[in-house]
Amino acid sequence: MQTVNHLDVLRNAVAKLREGGRTLALVPTMGALHEGHLTLVREAKKLADTVAVSIFVNPTQFGPNEDLDAYPRQLEEDSRMLETEGIDLLWAPTVEEMYPGGFATSISVSGVSSGFCGADRPGHFDGVATVVNKLFHQVLPDIACFGEKDWQQLAVIRRMARDLDLTRPHVSAIRGVPTVREADGLAMSSRNRYLSPEQREAAGTLPRAMKEAIARIEDGQDVTRTLAAFEDELLGAGFDRVDYADLADAASLEVLTQTIEKPMRMLVAARIGGTRLIDNMAVG
Ligand code: PAF
Repeated sequence: MQTVNHLDVLRNAVAKLREGGRTLALVPTMGALHEGHLTLVREAKKLADTVAVSIFVNPTQFGPNEDLDAYPRQLEEDSRMLETEGIDLLWAPTVEEMYPGGFATSISVSGVSSGFCGADRPGHFDGVATVVNKLFHQVLPDIACFGEKDWQQLAVIRRMARDLDLTRPHVSAIRGVPTVREADGLAMSSRNRYLSPEQREAAGTLPRAMKEAIARIEDGQDVTRTLAAFEDELLGAGFDRVDYADLADAASLEVLTQTIEKPMRMLVAARIGGTRLIDNMAVG
């Protein structure tokens, strides 16, 4: 595994990886790797001849009151894990390399960015779209793998890739990989480590109550009432706030108050202590 921190070195490394027509998959991450990321890496290995992983804690996707400084950084440990997975390239740029002085460009994807996490975290998806666009141009992958846990992020990236003609020649496939869960069903996240043991136990209510609410909706019960009862259950279990709990069209993310024939998704963001947890599951 080659670790690269500078763009000029990256360009040569990528050219070497692609020699002889070999395909390249990219797994963009912010580090603090866990089993969820490693699942993305293993999926990437199945899909392409060579695999690059990027680790970059992207400041432009954090709001002023968010956890940028506290966000876990463990490059050495991450690097060892990736070495064990047998990836080819680790791209770990500095903030100065990614956003040189005077950087003034931002990509904004309207529509899919605006509700859910976009409403709670203004500017977040502009930061994601901008950095992912840069990563695609830097690494020039054929395929990029993202976790379905960040369902809205995946929708934003897909939209951006289509709108800006990134799907060819760089990224012909943007692959969503199903969420990896702990034994009690909690979606794996780098932020789970912020939870105290009591909060961690209470957090297990989130996936359990989601599954129950989905079963009721699939059973034909009233969507609005079911989601209100779901929110009450989370608050009763020790969550401090539910930012949103909605049923939506899985592709357009339009919020639904009734079920439809097309694929649907239940999307939730809820806070416990200072930690914001998100999750989503298929409905129907
Ligand atoms: O999902 C993440 O870890 C980040 O949002 C991403 C896609 C790497 C962009 O910084």
